[in-house]
Amino acid sequence: MVAERTRRVEISGIRRMFEAAPPNAINLGLGEPDFDPPPEVVASLCRAVQNGGNHYGPSAGLSALREKIAQRYADRDPSTVRENVIVTASGSEALMTVALTLYDPGDEVLVPNPGFVLYAPHAKLAGATPVYYPLVEKQKFQPDLDVLEQLVTPKTKAIVVNSPSNPTGAMFPESTVERIVEFANRRRLTIISDEVYEDIVYTGKFASFWGRGERTIVVNSFSKTFAVTGWRLGFLVASKALAVELNKIHYHIMACPPTPAQVAVLAGYEAGDEATRAMVQEFRARRSIVDRLLRAMPGVSVVPPAGAFYVFPRIDWDGSATETAQALLARGVITTPGDAFGSLGASHLRLSFATSRAKLRAGLEIVRDYGVERSAR
Ligand SMILES: Cc1ncc(COP(=O)(O)O)c(C=O)c1O
Repeated sequence: MVAERTRRVEISGIRRMFEAAPPNAINLGLGEPDFDPPPEVVASLCRAVQNGGNHYGPSAGLSALREKIAQRYADRDPSTVRENVIVTASGSEALMTVALTLYDPGDEVLVPNPGFVLYAPHAKLAGATPVYYPLVEKQKFQPDLDVLEQLVTPKTKAIVVNSPSNPTGAMFPESTVERIVEFANRRRLTIISDEVYEDIVYTGKFASFWGRGERTIVVNSFSKTFAVTGWRLGFLVASKALAVELNKIHYHIMACPPTPAQVAVLAGYEAGDEATRAMVQEFRARRSIVDRLLRAMPGVSVVPPAGAFYVFPRIDWDGSATETAQALLARGVITTPGDAFGSLGASHLRLSFATSRAKLRAGLEIVRDYGVERSAR
């Protein structure tokens, strides 16, 4: 009864775990900060709702917010203006808008394996074919440019990159960003750079793709920066000409992004980044706890994440990652099996440290006990 494209996409492995979880399970599967949004942001949302800001707004977003985003991007490219920015109803919508705007049936799109769960399904929904490029632990989850070259065909339209990465936490050094830009320019590929974790960085310096490359689209989101995942607000930055095209598709998906949430995040930008910095500081402490506890487990290897709030350990225990995640679920801990992010995640688990230190310790104790049992076999 449903369309062929609907049959071709699967339910996300993350959601499946979540929905099968017993009540009171310790959630190490969370893809969202366990923080409240900054108080100025919440107050501003309430004021907007109380003062009549409950109506449709411009499809590309409120002018003042687009302007503010453009100003924030001016240090990456001084020519960035409001017309380069489209405010979307989440990073997820932004990704779908990009897929439907860019991909034709038959096109090929380079996507990371392992990578965020929407890239490949969105390519398929647009009729394109995802071509997976490997990110392996041995190379600290950094892309191999020689492999990328080999994967390009005359049909390749774009490359999706994500730094810092969900699920690996790896971040590209500036030299890698430059090499990818050189590769994409030479092969005439559009770079779709998902930068939703740019503010959550522990080591090294974040390098944006904006201001580099001949065809670059940045996908971003307020979800993680302001801990407002439920508000559904993100944005795209692209050339002015491409932004006009993206806005057409965005309009047909969403009409316009939510008005009160836009007013609120604008207030958040104006209040400064102290709340985000404090959140990252706490994540940093939890990252150390997780790193220490994982390293003490038998058969586990870890690449410390440079950004985001995930760690992607390789687990060398009896049983697949899915079996491990299911067994842990039965013992009261939610984790995400690495193959939810692609075939190369198959020996990994994704653990989120966006949960309290106490829950992390309790959850990892259960993981360790299970690991000790499975390694002794
Ligand atoms: C890499 C990445 N991109 C995009 C998103 C989408 O974020 P949202 O739709 O909440 O803006 C997420 C959410 O987890 C993500 O991890």
